[in-house]
Amino acid sequence: MSAKASNVQVGLVLGSDSDWHVVREATKVLDDFGLGYEVNVISAHRSAQAAGDYAVAAAGRGLKVIIAAAGMAAHLAGAMAANTTLPVIGIPVASGPLGGVDALLATVQMPPGVPVATVAIGPPGARNAGVLAVQILALSDEELAKKLTEHKANLARSVSQRSKKLQERIARRQDD
Ligand code: RP5
Repeated sequence: MSAKASNVQVGLVLGSDSDWHVVREATKVLDDFGLGYEVNVISAHRSAQAAGDYAVAAAGRGLKVIIAAAGMAAHLAGAMAANTTLPVIGIPVASGPLGGVDALLATVQMPPGVPVATVAIGPPGARNAGVLAVQILALSDEELAKKLTEHKANLARSVSQRSKKLQERIARRQDD
């Protein structure tokens, strides 16, 4: 277990270390918002007992949100959700010949009563998993809520800047 910071509120679990290139996008968001997290490789299939144990102990250890990433027949997020009342966010990873659609369906199609908040496949989904975790934690953290408001404003600013740049490019072309 590798705690990134002393106040660890988010537990990230990966079905394999080969999923790290995706999950790192979620950790970048958590870093930006100054949130503590831990990262563990635990497999729903290869180390099923450890997966259950992790989820059962998570709330008692102070975790508030679990982010689970896995590829192929991705049951890790579901295994987490089955064993905790904490919110679980699932990241489908494109690691098999089906390009992540297998993981997406395995992660999102949970039976009624056991939700997994499933984000998009791959790095964009991992970024959103990070943002969603922040949004959940911001419900009880005013400082975090303010940072989220700034984050939204920055997104809007960046779109407006891109729009201006595109208009300038088009205008230059029309001058040709
Ligand atoms: C899944 O199988 C993992 O989440 C990973 O995406 C995929 C392949 O795992 P490795 O063979 O690279 O360990 O369980």
